[in-house]
Amino acid sequence: MATLLLTLFLSLLYITSSTGTIGINYGRIANNLPNPTQVIQLLNTNGITRIKLFDTDPTVLNALSNSTISVIVALPNEHLSSAAQNQTYTDTWVQSNILPYTQTTNITAIAVGNEVFNDPNNTTSFLIPAMQNMHASLTKYNLNLKVSTPVPLTVLGNSYPPSAGSFKPELIETLIKPMLHFLRETNSYIMVNAYPFFAYAANSDKISLDYALFRDNDGYVDDQNGVVYKNLLDAQLDAVNSAMEALNFSDVKMVVTETGWPSVGDPNETGAGEENAAEYNGNLVRRVVTGGGTPLRPDDHLNVYLFALFNEDLKVGPTSERNYGLFYPDGRKVYDVPLSLTEVVNGSTVG
Ligand SMILES: *[C@@H]1O[C@H](CO)[C@@H](O)[C@H](O)[C@H]1NC(C)=O
Ligand SMILES: *[C@@H]1O[C@H](CO)[C@@H](O)[C@H](O)[C@H]1NC(C)=O
Ligand SMILES: *[C@@H]1O[C@H](CO)[C@@H](O)[C@H](O)[C@H]1NC(C)=O
Ligand SMILES: *[C@@H]1O[C@H](CO)[C@@H](O)[C@H](O)[C@H]1NC(C)=O
Ligand SMILES: *[C@@H]1O[C@H](CO)[C@@H](O)[C@H](O)[C@H]1NC(C)=O
Ligand SMILES: *[C@@H]1O[C@H](CO)[C@@H](O)[C@H](O)[C@H]1NC(C)=O
Ligand SMILES: *[C@@H]1O[C@H](CO)[C@@H](O)[C@H](O)[C@H]1NC(C)=O
Ligand SMILES: *[C@@H]1O[C@H](CO)[C@@H](O)[C@H](O)[C@H]1NC(C)=O
Repeated sequence: MATLLLTLFLSLLYITSSTGTIGINYGRIANNLPNPTQVIQLLNTNGITRIKLFDTDPTVLNALSNSTISVIVALPNEHLSSAAQNQTYTDTWVQSNILPYTQTTNITAIAVGNEVFNDPNNTTSFLIPAMQNMHASLTKYNLNLKVSTPVPLTVLGNSYPPSAGSFKPELIETLIKPMLHFLRETNSYIMVNAYPFFAYAANSDKISLDYALFRDNDGYVDDQNGVVYKNLLDAQLDAVNSAMEALNFSDVKMVVTETGWPSVGDPNETGAGEENAAEYNGNLVRRVVTGGGTPLRPDDHLNVYLFALFNEDLKVGPTSERNYGLFYPDGRKVYDVPLSLTEVVNGSTVG
């Protein structure tokens, strides 16, 4: 115990200058959530200073006014075809969805579309022009927000070993290269949604749960470069880093816009459960706020948005989809998990 505390304090000394950051996705596909004002109080009570939305809901953005909480907002996929046509649509969208809030609400980025190539309506062809128009509209109104778009790990054709990570060949010319070029030119970053849970659920015979949950384990050696991975998330992120490097875009930074673990799942969703969810999220927060970057990018501390704030009862799909939340609608935690450096330290003291 004393050793653990000493280690924690030493690592705290180490990280005062630069540390990873934790945010949380505030999804609202539910009929039982507290109102946005109560949600902001919940965020403040729990020391959460960054959130990501899936739209630009005015009640949420107004409730966030005068707060220092930083916000990533989103232009949903349904708007991409309009936004792609010309700057008229994005000008109007910025006027009504961004400009009214910029004086009081700390909006830092716009996620244009979400996982477009997984969209059943395939909005891929609209993405790049939509991002370009959005950026031009922001520039027109003198707004310095980042424009990006979240991609899931299925953007990769190969992710194993991490050093051999590569994008799906069919996405490279249509999506990946123009996107990375845009991100570089605008000094933005790639948004990555990464779920070790999916990999584990599909390969629980090959992947150890300890490795997926950041528990102590022997690790995995990338035989191409000898790098040792102690957890699956780092390996997944480095597969993306390798894929970018293979296209000569290793200068583009990364933010993990979604990651999480469900507290309930269907019988075949191996690994879903409250204890595993608590361990994944708790160990992830500890790793982010006390650790550095990934083995391939050790100096780039991790900026991670947990998925998600609440269980969302109206989401469709397998049971897990409705059970990623950290909080019940009444504000109680679904399971105990530290959400900030303070809680990591205090939590360990009492634990
Ligand atoms: C933010 O401050 C403005 C100006 O003082 C006030 O009108 C507004 O109600 C405040 N918003 C919130 C959510 O407190
Ligand atoms: C906005 O959020 C960023 C990132 O969290 C933070 O560094 C900055 O201080 C915030 N700005 C304001 C005005 O609160
Ligand atoms: C932008 O696109 C819309 C829809 O196609 C069209 O009606 C409008 O004339 C276009 N505006 C400009 C400036 O090209
Ligand atoms: C696909 O497009 C149709 C027609 O625009 C729309 O009604 C439907 O909601 C879209 N589906 C999704 C998943 O976005
Ligand atoms: C989606 O659209 C892109 C760009 O138009 C195209 O290259 C790709 O093949 C489409 N994907 C599917 C699954 O239809
Ligand atoms: C990356 O850059 C190297 C060195 O300039 C070059 O040889 C290689 O062809 C480039 N690769 C790609 C995919 O552009
Ligand atoms: C679980 O079963 C459902 C229904 O048979 C199937 O659609 C889904 O892909 C399965 N999930 C996993 C993780 O195997
Ligand atoms: C731990 O919690 C106590 C009381 O809630 C607080 O006063 C203290 O500052 C916290 N410690 C750290 C290191 O944040």
